Amino acid sequence: MESPQTDDALVIERRVKKILRSIELMRPIPMVITRILRSLDEPGSSAGYVSEIIGLDQALAANVLQAANSAFLGYGPSCATLKEAVMRLGYKRIRTLVLAVAASSGMDSSLAGYNLAAGDMWAHSVATAVAAQWFARAINYSEPEEAYAAGLLHDIGKIVLNKFIEEDYRWVFNNQKKINTTLIETERKTFGVDHSYIGSLMAQKWTFPMVLINAIQFHHNPGTAGDHKALAAITNVANALTPVDPETLSRLGPRQVDDVSYSILRITPDQLMAMNNQMVTYYKMNFGVGR
Ligand SMILES: [Fe+2]
Ligand SMILES: [Fe+2]
Repeated sequence: MESPQTDDALVIERRVKKILRSIELMRPIPMVITRILRSLDEPGSSAGYVSEIIGLDQALAANVLQAANSAFLGYGPSCATLKEAVMRLGYKRIRTLVLAVAASSGMDSSLAGYNLAAGDMWAHSVATAVAAQWFARAINYSEPEEAYAAGLLHDIGKIVLNKFIEEDYRWVFNNQKKINTTLIETERKTFGVDHSYIGSLMAQKWTFPMVLINAIQFHHNPGTAGDHKALAAITNVANALTPVDPETLSRLGPRQVDDVSYSILRITPDQLMAMNNQMVTYYKMNFGVGR
């Protein structure tokens, strides 16, 4: 197949329009989620009431409980019920997790354009979420569940790019080494946009807080994340270092820590490596998989 990369501004413009249009057409937040968010805003609503509303969707409830326990793993006993999770995390944090879990539905299907088998994207996203909340704790970032949500959703833009330009993307992925450039640069040259920008538009559509939108948009370039560099840097580090089995690793392609992340997080490469060893041990103990 010929290189889909082009300097033709019109071709790029057409491709960008097509991609942006697909985001406009994306389904809005499902009713059940809107209802949950509303229950969190109602004056005088109790943890019992909120958890009842979340419990109306069994699959969502199970995933929110799992996310809540992962985000707080190792810090006190785990929550057996949603009500406990709501009480312990508080409304603001539960809101972030409910939105993140809902937005991540559909991540378990395969992404042919990225050479990712069914479950690969989901496994990488959950692993990045767990690693991100671990690093957030290690550097005393105040909102570890934000880091969990950012990790879970950082690559969400790939779902859209994959769907609309599958063949081109397969070419990009397979020729990555020959082109000798980063995946993100190649995406920009080929499509006029990259998966982090597309992901941030999706996050806007889902009314995520600015700090999360920024983390998704700048997870490969945390230095340009404006007011919210710390979460973008945590996501960058977690994405690069999160454990993954060798087979998936070969399909995911290279991932690396951006040099700027060290200064944003005020750590040295040696300190990060020491933290990383602890994170991998923690990960293997609690989640089984690792490299
Ligand atoms: Fe990415
Ligand atoms: Fe990633």
